[in-house]
Amino acid sequence: MNDLQGRTVLVTGAGRGIGRAEALHLASLGANVVVNDPGVAVDGHGGDASVAEAVAAQIRDRGGRAVADTGSVTDWDAAERMVALAVAEFGDLHAVVNNAATEVNKGLERLTEAEFDGVVAVKLKGAFAVSRWAAAHWRRRRDAGDRAGRAIVNTASGSGLYNPLPTQSNYASANAAVAAMTTVHALELGRLGVRVNCVVPSMVRTRLTLGVPGMDDAPDGPDPKDPAVVAPLVSYLVGPDCAFTGQVLSVRGGAVTPVRGWELGEGIEPEGTAWTQAELAARLGALPLQDPFDRLAASLGSALGTQGRQDIEAMISAQLD
Ligand SMILES: NC(=O)c1ccc[n+]([C@@H]2O[C@H](COP(=O)([O-])OP(=O)(O)OC[C@H]3O[C@@H](n4cnc5c(N)ncnc54)[C@H](O)[C@@H]3O)[C@@H](O)[C@H]2O)c1
Repeated sequence: MNDLQGRTVLVTGAGRGIGRAEALHLASLGANVVVNDPGVAVDGHGGDASVAEAVAAQIRDRGGRAVADTGSVTDWDAAERMVALAVAEFGDLHAVVNNAATEVNKGLERLTEAEFDGVVAVKLKGAFAVSRWAAAHWRRRRDAGDRAGRAIVNTASGSGLYNPLPTQSNYASANAAVAAMTTVHALELGRLGVRVNCVVPSMVRTRLTLGVPGMDDAPDGPDPKDPAVVAPLVSYLVGPDCAFTGQVLSVRGGAVTPVRGWELGEGIEPEGTAWTQAELAARLGALPLQDPFDRLAASLGSALGTQGRQDIEAMISAQLD
């Protein structure tokens, strides 16, 4: 028997890219899949109902069980309906994979209110909304005596975690918030038998990464940038044997690496009860502060220090001016 036989998984943004590969893989392991996707453009505009249906049909053609859903994760009522659809079609919902995302990349001085809100709504509010309705369902099941292992898998990005990409104030902050929300929900939902983890894909060839240097060189053999590279980890995280909760795991090619969160470094204390400006000015320089230019240079594999800073400044000006 396959690992996921009889389990029902709702995957958001499953019509294309990484979500599509996850839906196909989960179905191949026996899961019933709700394939959610309104089929929008990268910036969230438009819509195409055939995108979700094509993936659901492909799963059914291979002998699996799937239903398409074209609601937007940003729509509170549509998120509730996705959970209800899973229960109506397959009798229960065991896991949610929050994968949907849009991107509008611009420097801060050009980004509009709607462009900020739209990207944050899909990535952050969408993950919250779908998890919220799933948790309400799982609470009812727990109260009825059913504590079968359930799971949420969120999806974040290195942008916002360890790779502070300029032009992504909306996308980066939403992804950082998804990682934070993962920890909160892991703590809250353990009592309902729900594990909550987060995957962080990196350098996967989809329409979001078209134009990123090095992404269009598909090799003849195994392809570490194929959207399917993330799916095995997701299928483990939604399965009944997953051994942990509250983790944020980067996936790059075959490499799975924990992402460490913000943490307190070494600090300084005032001599008396409060700081004076002069004392602060004299001692703040001793703090082991992280330079954001060095953070970006390190994640890009560029030189650190003065040369690295000049390179990064030139790159940012070229992108934004
Ligand atoms: N490709 C990468 O290298 C990479 C890197 C880091 C993180 N990610 C993350 O992986 C996930 C998948 O990205 P992808 O590269 O496959 O992108 P993609 O654009 O190929 O797929 C995203 C899907 O989400 C859908 N979507 C958009 N708005 C939606 C909404 N309101 N409701 C439901 N679905 C919606 C889109 O229609 C699209 O089919 C995203 O969360 C993204 O942030 C990808």
